[in-house]
Amino acid sequence: MSNIVKINNKIKNFKKIITVPGDKSLSIRWVLFASLANGKSKSKNLLLSEDVLAAIDAVKKLGIKVILKKNECTIFGKGIDGYKYEKNLTINAQNSGTLGRLILGLLVNTPYPINLIGDKSLSKRDFKRISDPLAKFGVKFKLRNNKYLPLKIYGTSNLKPIKFYENKGSAQCKSSTIFAAMRTNGTTKIIAKKSRDHTELFCKYLKLPITVKKNKNYDEIKIKKVKKINSLNYNIPSDISSSAFFIVLTALSKNSELIIKNVNINPSRIGIITILKKMGVKIFFKNKKTYKGEKKADIKVLSVTNIRAINCPPKLNSGAIDEFLVIFLVAAKAKGISYFRNLSELNQKESPRLKWAEKILSSLGVKTVTTKDSIKIYGNPNLNLDLDKKIVIKNYLKDHRVFMTSLIAALTFGGVWSIHDKDSINTSFPNFLKIVDDLKKWLKEKIF
Ligand code: S3P
Repeated sequence: MSNIVKINNKIKNFKKIITVPGDKSLSIRWVLFASLANGKSKSKNLLLSEDVLAAIDAVKKLGIKVILKKNECTIFGKGIDGYKYEKNLTINAQNSGTLGRLILGLLVNTPYPINLIGDKSLSKRDFKRISDPLAKFGVKFKLRNNKYLPLKIYGTSNLKPIKFYENKGSAQCKSSTIFAAMRTNGTTKIIAKKSRDHTELFCKYLKLPITVKKNKNYDEIKIKKVKKINSLNYNIPSDISSSAFFIVLTALSKNSELIIKNVNINPSRIGIITILKKMGVKIFFKNKKTYKGEKKADIKVLSVTNIRAINCPPKLNSGAIDEFLVIFLVAAKAKGISYFRNLSELNQKESPRLKWAEKILSSLGVKTVTTKDSIKIYGNPNLNLDLDKKIVIKNYLKDHRVFMTSLIAALTFGGVWSIHDKDSINTSFPNFLKIVDDLKKWLKEKIF
């Protein structure tokens, strides 16, 4: 079967209710917490993507039994010290930065060195940002070129608590040090630039010895050694980062309306909503609920005719860090010049995303000025590609979000697109194309 998707038709108007899969950050964290718990934990609606399956494989390698039936998963934890460390163990984080970085925090007491490897994209990403703080606990590392995978972690039974200033706004670095602190005598203090706080919310819900003081730009986290984690049943809400593609598709399509059910709307994840509302998109939360410390709601979005350009306040960056590529498509259709800055972290993702933003937008004929950490987008409210304009997207390190953003661009702006490596979506959103297809099929059945 071809791994190239060809699109040569814009999507027509639609009005629909959809559900996207479970949140990736929550799914990976649930697997890791459940693997340390005492006894049987069950989850429903676990995201069944390659990143999460890699997390399941990783805990299985550490001697934890896992049973997966459809998207119901049972993990038989053996307690906080229940991992079975063997000699010459290799853990493969595949494409997942979250798994690769978080799991290192749990391996800090391994009696034997463990190898951590990943795929081509993960092997280009920075692991020094996590080996540096973990080294302060007393852990040793060997990294390729002092920065990259493959790496070897040499744990210690003599972990010392640390004080860590996390200044990248990286939830992965923050979470990994929280995990290491859970294994350390004494109190670890983390002063962390704002980033998603799912790990802290899990800890609080599990009544672990953590305190979090939220300041304007930084959170102050104190965490002590954890003796026991209770088993945890969890019904994973849907992923706002996956919803983002359909939010933008609806906003940019004519006379359309979409409801996305049961989405995690943790305040540290809804930067896209704040940004798009500032640009004039109508988005509403319905049926808001709190679930085990997390917030969730149905998201309703309407198409928009007049899009305003935005000078995006950098304080919104961390809450939208995974959504910028698709947000840039909205800026492409805005009246005026949009400006997004302080975004060097975008180049630390599965591909250098500012470069890919430039490439996709220039294929659309949209002028951009890019620096190493910012992008100016010269919007065009009448953006519409010639029917025979050919665009090929390939060699993007299989970054799932480059694939999905390109596809949304194809469906909204027209042209003849060949988007390679459709299997890239398997890391985060395996049924993405099925949902797109359903939106199209539905059109054939019902015209309004
Ligand atoms: C994630 C944190 C973010 C995000 C990634 C998932 C997490 O990365 O980009 O997709 O689940 O902790 P950083 O922490 O590196 O910003």
